[in-house]
Amino acid sequence: MTPEEFRTYGYAAVDWVAHFLEHTRDYPVLPDVKPGSLVDALPKSGPEQGEDFGQILEDFEREIVPRSTHWNHPRFMGYFANSSPGEGILAEMLAAALNPNAMLWKSSPAATELEQVTLDWLRQWMGISPGWFGQILDTASTSTFHAIVAARVRKGVSKGTLYASKHAHSSIEKGALAAGVAREHVRLIDVDDAFRMRMDLLEAAITEDLAAGLEPFCVIPTVGTTSVASIDPVREVLAIAKKHGMWVHVDCAYGGSTAVDPRYQPLMDGVDEADSFVVNPHKWMFVPMDLSVLYCRDKEWLRNAFSLVPEYLRTAGDERALNYHEYGLPLGRRFRSLKLWFTMRSFGREKIAAMIHQQIEDAKWLAEEMRQHPSFEVCAPVDYSLVVFRHRDGDEATQQMFEAVDRSGEVLLSPNVLAGRKVIRLAIGNIQTSREDLAVVWKLLRGVAGG
Ligand SMILES: Cc1ncc(COP(=O)(O)O)c(C=O)c1O
Repeated sequence: MTPEEFRTYGYAAVDWVAHFLEHTRDYPVLPDVKPGSLVDALPKSGPEQGEDFGQILEDFEREIVPRSTHWNHPRFMGYFANSSPGEGILAEMLAAALNPNAMLWKSSPAATELEQVTLDWLRQWMGISPGWFGQILDTASTSTFHAIVAARVRKGVSKGTLYASKHAHSSIEKGALAAGVAREHVRLIDVDDAFRMRMDLLEAAITEDLAAGLEPFCVIPTVGTTSVASIDPVREVLAIAKKHGMWVHVDCAYGGSTAVDPRYQPLMDGVDEADSFVVNPHKWMFVPMDLSVLYCRDKEWLRNAFSLVPEYLRTAGDERALNYHEYGLPLGRRFRSLKLWFTMRSFGREKIAAMIHQQIEDAKWLAEEMRQHPSFEVCAPVDYSLVVFRHRDGDEATQQMFEAVDRSGEVLLSPNVLAGRKVIRLAIGNIQTSREDLAVVWKLLRGVAGG
């Protein structure tokens, strides 16, 4: 592509994005397509000769966009919603233009140091003490995996057992398996009425494992679980873990972003005293996929687990030159911090905090509406922006309600099973979601629920 062509198509692409961001509501959240439809629509092999770029952009609009599930839609409320506002989109484009590989300080001084700067800003915004070492990884799954590997190396265990709540995200068990912990050594501890990990059962499981000659080495409480956004008692977990010399990693992938508002910092109580924690700005801080942050109390713990420096990566030592590749699995690292920097600067902490607070208020409003309605039951406390509910008439009515909403294309929710009963999750988190969007969703739900 010549610079002139880049200008022409670049302006066209930016125009398309601007229109899309302005009219995202006009698109169905969920596409009406069958599996295999894109595979069938596209040629079976790649072109021998280059094609006209205008045609490629047209095909993007015709073939790709209509088959997309729109995560950037204000009524995307399935899983945990996320957002890609203009700031992040522009940052991604500029990062691609510079195209650095932030493996070594020398291979990208700017990307390396911007990562240090933005993660220190984020730490301060969250009310976390100085001294933590942060690194950006793609997802919380990868961040948690790194924490488990570091914990295993630090504790030097071979028959290590790891503990999390029954409501912990599957990435914890997966991370443990990938880190070499045997599946039968991952303990998923039962929860109390508020879906919080039970401390008596945690203590009992550790005691039993010690008696069996196993090596309890890591506990992973969650601040904002996926299924119900419950908050494990991190401080109590720490007290138990410390007695046994165990590593505590906290999964704040979803709940952590709320700490940029000091009103929500008490929900993170204890996290500052853990060994590591993960927070995902790509979930609820309005930063586009993918950007997960792993904070570790001591960077040497990660280095001990991951540093392996072949001759071709050796650079002159300088204590201010951080070589991120020594602290994690990937060698090549994208310039992710640019989109965090753009987002933090363009919004400022107060605006981000206000938006998150508003979304939590909106979730509480909706939950209250549901509580007042004869057909709805709210199934979990609403501390964050997740509302978990069901139809009062039971599983079948809940399933029918879910399917009717799904077919509508108006909103995307996600199904789950809680205490053996079908429930529906509605997670607010997209930057464009307004009270009007919630009113649309609430009307739709009442319409399909009857009563
Ligand atoms: C609490 C929690 N932890 C971890 C994850 C995994 O996140 P990721 O997709 O970044 O790996 C999720 C995903 O929703 C989550 O809700």
